[in-house]
Amino acid sequence: MIKRIGTCSLEIPLFVFKVVNHDELKPKLLSQIEELGTYSYINEGQRISHTDWHLRGDRDFGYKKIFLPIALAHMALLSKEIHRNKYTGFIDECWFQQYNEGDYHGLHTHNGSLASVYYLELGDKAPHTTLSINGKEVTIPVAEGHIISFPSYIEYESKPNGTNRKTVIAYNSWFKEVL
Ligand SMILES: [Fe+2]
Repeated sequence: MIKRIGTCSLEIPLFVFKVVNHDELKPKLLSQIEELGTYSYINEGQRISHTDWHLRGDRDFGYKKIFLPIALAHMALLSKEIHRNKYTGFIDECWFQQYNEGDYHGLHTHNGSLASVYYLELGDKAPHTTLSINGKEVTIPVAEGHIISFPSYIEYESKPNGTNRKTVIAYNSWFKEVL
């Protein structure tokens, strides 16, 4: 039997990075995504018009060939930032989500130890990511080309999208000591 005997409040780090060649990458990634056809994911917790969630464990195709080296470079920077390069970052799952008008993704958590989201296409009025921490909503100010990372156990959501299409690439990662 287990019971909670206390809580220790810590500041939760949320990292924001910028893909410096985003303008060059954006059309290439979107064109590769468009070639995948349309696969919608709709249930009571989400309405996402186009995603490759079902291919999240595969890595050797289309946009992932372009994007995963960037995500791994991002993991290396995070390792330097968080652990002074003591650990190597690994990516288990990677997928995109494309939101049309009204699409949303309700509160959820991710696998792995760190969740990351790259804002590939984000209109001026598109909803940003909203974290829910102890019932309190915290909306992260981001812009197109940014990547945010936060602990995977934190609940977050994407509120209903406006008229401009929004596209994100998400990935789940973890760290292992380099021996
Ligand atoms: Fe997510």
